[in-house]
Amino acid sequence: MKNKNYILVGLQWGDEGKGKIVDMLSRNFDVVARYQGGANAGHTIIIDGKKTVLHLIPSGIFTENIICIIGNGTVIDPDALINEIELLEKDGIKLENRLFISKDAHIILPYHKIIDAINESKSDKIGTTKKGIGPSYYDKYARRGIKFSDFENRTVLKEKISKNLDYLLGIFPDSDELKSLDAQKLYEELSANYAGVEKYFVQTQYMINKLVSEGKNVLLEGAQGALLDVDFGTYPYITSSNPTSGGACTGTGIPPTKINGVIGIVKAYTTRVGEGPFPTELFDETGKKIAEIGVEFGATTGRPRRCGWLDLVALKYAVVINGVTELALTKSDVLDSFEEIKLCTHYELNGEIIDTFPSNPFVLDYVNPVYKSFKGWMTELKGKTAYNDLSENFRGYVEFIENYIGVPVKYVSTGPARSDIIIK
Ligand code: IMP
Repeated sequence: MKNKNYILVGLQWGDEGKGKIVDMLSRNFDVVARYQGGANAGHTIIIDGKKTVLHLIPSGIFTENIICIIGNGTVIDPDALINEIELLEKDGIKLENRLFISKDAHIILPYHKIIDAINESKSDKIGTTKKGIGPSYYDKYARRGIKFSDFENRTVLKEKISKNLDYLLGIFPDSDELKSLDAQKLYEELSANYAGVEKYFVQTQYMINKLVSEGKNVLLEGAQGALLDVDFGTYPYITSSNPTSGGACTGTGIPPTKINGVIGIVKAYTTRVGEGPFPTELFDETGKKIAEIGVEFGATTGRPRRCGWLDLVALKYAVVINGVTELALTKSDVLDSFEEIKLCTHYELNGEIIDTFPSNPFVLDYVNPVYKSFKGWMTELKGKTAYNDLSENFRGYVEFIENYIGVPVKYVSTGPARSDIIIK
C-alpha cells in the first residue's frame, strides 16, 4: 500500500471497530488524520492487553514516527483534548512534532455542552453523546462559530464569546447553567487551556498537501458511521458532520484527486446507540446474547448499544455513497457460538420487496427485514492466522456478503487485540 492515500469509513451507525483497524493499518502510512466529529467518538485500541480509548487524537498515534493530524472538519473541546494529550504522555507517547491540529477546527465551548443537554432533556431527543457536537456545528454553519484561529485576534475572540453567550441567553432564558456563565471568565479559561496546547496548532491544510506532494501516504480516519451522516444518514437521528468519504476532503483539505481508495469497516452484526430507526434490531435473547458477548456498551458514554443482524441493504447503500473499494469485517468472533446467523437481504415495505435504503426514518420504521439464514460456524475464529484455516461456514458467509455488495473483504478481525487480524 505504498504511495497511497486512503479514507477509512464506518459503514453502519458507528462502533464498527475502526480504531483497531486504523492502528493495524498505520504501519503502511506516514500520516493518519481525523476529518470530522469530535470527542463523541471512542476509538478503542488494545495493545499487549492494555486498552486505550481515543476520542480526538487519530488511532495511528501508537505507531512510531507517524504524523497525526486533527483536521479542520472536526470540532474540539479543549478540555477533552488536554485530557487525551496527558493520558498519552503518561503512557510515554511523544506528541511534539507528531501531533498537529487545524487552526480552522471549531472550538466546543462549555455553552455547547449545556445546550446539547437541554435539547436532550426534551421528549424528541436524538440520544446524542452530550459532548456539544451538534451545537458547535450549528454555530459553525450559522457563521458565529469560534475557531482556534480566532486566537490570532484576541479582541475579536472576546467579543465573539460575549455575543454568542448573549444570543444563547436570548434563546434559552430559563437556563440557570447558561446564566451562570461569564464571558470574560470563559475567555480566560479558554486562553489558559490554549496556552498549553498552542504548539500543536497549524494550518493543517497546507501541511497535509505538502506531505502528499512529498510522496507520503495518508490515512484519513472517519469517526461515527455512514448511517449517522448529516446528509445521507437517518436524519434527524444522525450526528452533525459528514463521516462519509466526501467529508474526508472537506475536513482536511486533501483534494479528491489525491484519494486512491476507501476502506469500509463493517461489523458482522449491527449496533446503534441513541434514538432512530434500526430495521434489523433484535429485542429477543439473540439480541441480548450479541450485546453480552460483543460487550456492546458505548466507548464514550457507556450506554448499552442496541443490537441486531447485519443489514446488507443498509450496507450496500453505505458502500455506494462512500465508493468503498475494500472491506474490513470486524467482530465476527462474537458470532462464534450462534447456531443460526442471519443476513438481511431485502426489506418488505407495504407488501413490496425493496433493496434500497429509505433514509427517511419514518419509512424505515415501517420496513420489515427479509432474512437469509446461515448455519453458524460454531468454532473459534480467534487464533487462526490464515483465511483458509477459517471454517467453511464462515467463509461462505463472507462470500455471500462480498457477492451481494460487490466489494472484497480484505481484512477479517478475529478478536479485540491488535494481533487478532487476518489479511485475506
Ligand atoms: P452526537 O454526535 O453526540 O451529536 O450524537 C448524535 C448521534 O450520533 C447519537 O445517536 C449518538 O449516539 C451517535 N454517535 C455519535 N458519536 C458516535 C460514535 O462514535 N459511535 C456511535 N454512535 C455515535
